[in-house]
Amino acid sequence: MPALTDLPRPFFVLAPMDDVTDTVFRRIVGQCAAPDLYFTEFVNVDGLQSAGRDRLLKRIQFTPAEQPLIAQIWGKNPENFYKTAKELVAMGFAGIDLNMGCPDKTVVKNGCCSALINNRELALEIIKATQDGAAGKVPVSVKTRLGFNQNDYTWHELLLRQDLAMLTVHGRTRREMSDVPARWEDIAQVRELRDRIAPQTLLVGNGDVENRAHGMQLAQQYTLDGIMIGRGIFKDPFAFAEQSPWPTLTRQERIDLYAKHVTLFAHTWTHAERRIVTLNKFCKIYINNFDGAKELREQLMNAQSSDELLSLLALNR
Ligand SMILES: Cc1cc2nc3c(=O)[nH]c(=O)nc-3n(C[C@H](O)[C@H](O)[C@H](O)COP(=O)(O)O)c2cc1C
Repeated sequence: MPALTDLPRPFFVLAPMDDVTDTVFRRIVGQCAAPDLYFTEFVNVDGLQSAGRDRLLKRIQFTPAEQPLIAQIWGKNPENFYKTAKELVAMGFAGIDLNMGCPDKTVVKNGCCSALINNRELALEIIKATQDGAAGKVPVSVKTRLGFNQNDYTWHELLLRQDLAMLTVHGRTRREMSDVPARWEDIAQVRELRDRIAPQTLLVGNGDVENRAHGMQLAQQYTLDGIMIGRGIFKDPFAFAEQSPWPTLTRQERIDLYAKHVTLFAHTWTHAERRIVTLNKFCKIYINNFDGAKELREQLMNAQSSDELLSLLALNR
């Protein structure tokens, strides 16, 4: 498994996306055009260290094809970060990332994720506990935003003093949610701080990147080590390719790719741990851009089981 420092420059990362980037979709993306680095969906350490543990462990399951894979965690209690970090090292993750950017109302109300921008004492305790748990065996990183209500570079300065292996900056504040374009010139301000304070910390930019070519241009323009792509993958499952074949894929090829996804889903979530409706957001990706796609999507989105989905797909190839 390559260390983060061995990754190409710039390197390309598949963003963590809740209910999207599970082991199934990571494998599909990997087969289409692999990123250099994967993240799990965020998983709660306080839940992992409680009775709900088994359900959450399933959420971060992976296969060797998805390496290097970073486990992204969030929560409240530093001791649970410590215990979880130790376990993640033993499970074979390539790194541990701390979510300090999620803007969700409930999460913030609970003092987690982006709320840590305003609770720096706890943020530091969490970083220290995770680094102690990882014990230098895997890198510890942070993913965050430009600030809470406005850009606040004192936050990044503090983070950069914590000897992090990597810092990912999503170019919006918490207040902005996803409502404004990402500000790459502001991400570049953090990169300047990084150059001064922590040249060993890799800096990754994130926000509105459509594909590899777009990311390459931003990495060069703003001198970044890595580029993280999230929703770009909804428009093109080959977003990490140098030259994507997606626009020219036939109806049959698109249907076959979705059938592959549904089959992997059925083999992975054998006890309905993930509801069939979670597939609907993927349906929009694949069943698109051919005559009759809209009508077929309507049928597929009403399917009640993976078997029903697969028969409909086979009938319509
Ligand atoms: C459906 C969805 C789920 C997300 N879940 C997570 C998550 O679990 N952890 C995280 O750090 N960010 C999460 N994000 C934020 C993305 O990782 C990324 O920062 C954001 O979408 C901006 O990048 P993009 O414009 O390339 O999508 C999520 C975003 C979406 C759209």
